[in-house]
Parts: sequence; C-alpha cells; structure tokens
Amino acid sequence: MITIRNLTKSYDGKKNAVENINLDIESGDIFGFVGLNGAGKSTTIKCLVGILGFSEGEITVNGRSIKEDPIACKSEMAYISDNPEIYAYMRGIDFIKFILSIYKTPYDKDKVMSFARSFELDDVLGNLVSSYSHGMKQKLVLMSAFLHEPKILVLDEPFVGLDPKATHMLKSMMQEYAAKGNSIFFSTHVLEVAEKLCNKVAIIKDGRIAACGTMEEITVSSSLEDYFLEVNNE
Ligand SMILES: Nc1ncnc2c1ncn2[C@@H]1O[C@H](COP(=O)(O)OP(=O)(O)OP(=O)(O)O)[C@@H](O)[C@H]1O
Ligand SMILES: [Mg+2]
Repeated sequence: MITIRNLTKSYDGKKNAVENINLDIESGDIFGFVGLNGAGKSTTIKCLVGILGFSEGEITVNGRSIKEDPIACKSEMAYISDNPEIYAYMRGIDFIKFILSIYKTPYDKDKVMSFARSFELDDVLGNLVSSYSHGMKQKLVLMSAFLHEPKILVLDEPFVGLDPKATHMLKSMMQEYAAKGNSIFFSTHVLEVAEKLCNKVAIIKDGRIAACGTMEEITVSSSLEDYFLEVNNE
C-alpha cells in the first residue's frame, strides 16, 4: 500500500534529518515506527502524508506518487499529528462534520455517536474544542480519522495523553481496522504497546533505518525494548 524508497530530507540543505529511508507498509499491517527523540520519525511521517517536501527519493500510496498526485494519495489516508492542534472555536461535532466533509463522507449521526460513546465524548461533542483537555482533543481527532474509513492510518504518537481506558479502546480499534485489510503506520515511544500490537516494526536511529522486520524477527531473542536499547547503544 505504501512504499518509501531512498527518502532523504534536509531542513536546512546541509544536514539530513532522514537519509535513505526504505519502508514497505502492506495491507493488514500494524507497522510500528520507533526511535529516540529527534531520530526522524515525525519527519518521515510528514513526508509520507504530503505535508513536507523532500529532496530525494520516492513515496507511493497505492501506486501513486505523493509528489505527483498528492490529493489522490491524501484521500486514501488519515494523518494524526503528534499534537492535537484543532480549531478552538469549533464545537467537537462541527470538527467531526468538517473532517467528514473534506473526505466527502456523509454524516451518519448514529455512527458518530457510537464512536463518541466508545471514547466517552458523547456528552461534550456539543462543547467548544477550547474547553477540551489534551486527551479529549486527542480522542476527537482519532475519532474523526476512523470515521471516514481511510485505507491507511498514519499516526504520530497516538497514545500520548490518552487515559488507560481510551488507550485500550484505541488498541482494539487499530486491531479491528487492520484485520479488515487496512494499514496502520504509527510512531510511538511505548515499546510494550508496539511489541504487542504490531506485526512489523522499524527502528530509526540518527535519520537512518537501523533495523526493520516482522515483530517475530526483531524479538526472536529479546524483548523489543532490549533490542531497541542495544541498537541505540551501539
Ligand atoms: N521544522 C524543523 N526545522 C528544522 N529541523 C527540524 C524540524 N523538525 C525537525 N527537525 C530536525 O530533524 C530531526 C528529526 O526530527 P523529528 O521531529 O523527525 O524527530 P522524531 O523522531 O519525531 O522525534 P520525537 O521523538 O522527539 O518526536 C531532528 O534533528 C530535528 O532537530
Ligand atoms: Mg516526533
């Protein structure tokens, strides 16, 4: 579904933030992307979803180039950034309707309320986003992503700020979503969650892929955490 080939991105034209990244995300994958702060996760993700341009390499989404056909690529993906910065003056329900309209998805009240109940947002959807806590905003953006049923979900640290109940809910939703043949690519620092949830994982170190494979391959002789620490202590 997604191919990233030789992706190289520099912000200042001198130092590469990411270099020669190659990744394949296939149908049904829950693909974890892990690395230390500043390793290049968000940069890679922003290039993939068409927010950042890049100097070298190629990214395709279902065979189409993100550079040449960005709208078609974006219409198949949902992207949740590492910070739920959403319009404070909108009510939660207006934000949901806004996202659905962008993706040309009809508003289905029962479906929206069912998702809202799952995330315990049903009582506050009519309130302004400015009155939401960080976790509530995160739940709202996650809900909006699942609601328009994209084939690909790209999530930058989706578990940050979620309470244990919402974390559990999100993990179940991700599993159900991938089981239908969709793909999820997400970054995280929570290695225990990644190890349990993902079928594939890549470790990025100093802008380069240091390890990549199925979770069984990577954790054959140690936990993901131990392997991660070993790779990053080399
Ligand atoms: N807007 C920017 N302008 C200049 N340099 C940037 C910018 N964003 C990121 N960088 C640099 O690119 C490198 C990779 O950063 P990136 O945000 O991709 O890391 P990350 O793996 O997502 O880290 P974190 O775990 O802290 O979110 C870092 O050296 C960072 O300083
Ligand atoms: Mg980041």
